Amino acid sequence: MKIVFAASEVAPFSKTGGLGDVAGALPDALARRGHEVLVVTPLYGQIDRKKHGIWPTSTRVFDMPVHERVLESGVRVVFLEHGHFFDRPGIYDEGGKEYDDNAHRFAFFSRRILPTADALGFGPVDILHLNDWQTGVAALELSRQRGLRPGFTKSVFTIHNLGYQGVFDKKVIDELGLGWDAFTPWGMEQYDRVNYLKAGVAFADWITTVSPTYAQEIQTPEHGFGLDGFIRSRSNRLVGILNGVDYGQWNPATDRNLPSRYGPDDLAGKAVCRRALCEELGIEDRPGSMLLGVVTRLAWQKGIDMIVDAIPALMERNVNLAILGSGEQHYVDRLEGAKRYHGKRIGLYVGYDNGLAHRIEAGADAFLMPSLYEPCGLNQMYSLKYGTVPIVRTTGGLVDTVVDATVPGGFGTGFRFQDPNAGALIDAVDRALRAFEHPARWREIQQAGMAQDFSWDAAAARCEAIYERA
Ligand code: ADP
Ligand code: GLC
Repeated sequence: MKIVFAASEVAPFSKTGGLGDVAGALPDALARRGHEVLVVTPLYGQIDRKKHGIWPTSTRVFDMPVHERVLESGVRVVFLEHGHFFDRPGIYDEGGKEYDDNAHRFAFFSRRILPTADALGFGPVDILHLNDWQTGVAALELSRQRGLRPGFTKSVFTIHNLGYQGVFDKKVIDELGLGWDAFTPWGMEQYDRVNYLKAGVAFADWITTVSPTYAQEIQTPEHGFGLDGFIRSRSNRLVGILNGVDYGQWNPATDRNLPSRYGPDDLAGKAVCRRALCEELGIEDRPGSMLLGVVTRLAWQKGIDMIVDAIPALMERNVNLAILGSGEQHYVDRLEGAKRYHGKRIGLYVGYDNGLAHRIEAGADAFLMPSLYEPCGLNQMYSLKYGTVPIVRTTGGLVDTVVDATVPGGFGTGFRFQDPNAGALIDAVDRALRAFEHPARWREIQQAGMAQDFSWDAAAARCEAIYERA
């Protein structure tokens, strides 16, 4: 099939979270299954073109330059240039403030996806695979223009996170010429405002989300962010497909970001990584202590309040923390406050640092992910591979990827808790600590996790099945 895959971030070129990882890996997996894939994404100012070997093409789309990089798998990644919209320091925001023209920026992007494929002679396009609200307008445009296109391009819209919908004042309909006919309750209207994610859900042929559990949850008022009723109305076209892991990037046996590599049969290298991490973050490495890792966007979704609330109780236990996070300033302030108070028990780096994310996955004993909701979550899957036992809340993709190990004898790979509060989190940490005190038991849990296989091929095969149905 000929597949156009569009996303507002694509790793390693641009990334703020898991969407970038997925957009960097799924197209590759599809190509390896024999499909022709063209990835379309904006050329942000922060993308280092030289480093990544991205070159201008002779093609222009609506008189704007187009750049390209061909991946080893044959996937073509195409970058759309627009000085005013994209040549800025941030992707969605800057200094904690969202750009006030995001409606215009991502409508511009959405409207150039298929024309770019056409201009590059990539076609006829079988599948247009869209991701999150930034591409919602493309689903609308395709449903309008389908009769004019060669072939019968079908669209698949993936919801990575319902908490971000791209909601704007309805004045953008005239400003952008989106058409009032689509501004209906069964179209892109939501409480008299324009909702780009809703446009994607409304106008795509198929809708997927990033785990089976999340596909159920978004149909409930608790996790539907106001769209649960509308999503239920489309449930016969909705499928949950668990994301995969790019083991080319996330594998302790080959990871170049680590001071020492290791695998399931020999964990000696993990101890080296732990020592180096403690040194890097200035953590006092106390005998017998458990090092708990956190790598996260600092956002409400991730349960940061729970982490901060739990710190005093954690510090009463033989537990140290290694935290990497970037995001909302009030969380930064609270974490920095805790760090000042507890000194060398907490290692904290505020900012975005991919290498450190890998070193925490490798160096920590356990990994904490108390998300309030989690569409899929990639870090817990990375942790499993790195023998770093995940401690997670039972929500979304965390349910689908971590098996509780509290009762010995099963196939447990981590520790789970349900109630969204620090007490329940501490209870899960205590259960983990009890296992940690018995090295043989701990190794069993680590190895059960390291034996899990979440490679992309399985996810790509499921996507392919949806493309075929479409
Ligand atoms: P989400 O997409 O909701 O942020 P995921 O678990 O799906 O959550 O993906 C997060 C990705 O972003 C992972 O690859 C993780 O390593 C990375 N990441 C998150 N915060 C940081 C940070 N501060 N520095 C480096 N990488 C980060
Ligand atoms: C979103 C979700 C995360 C998911 C990622 C990739 O950012 O918050 O759970 O893993 O998208 O699909």
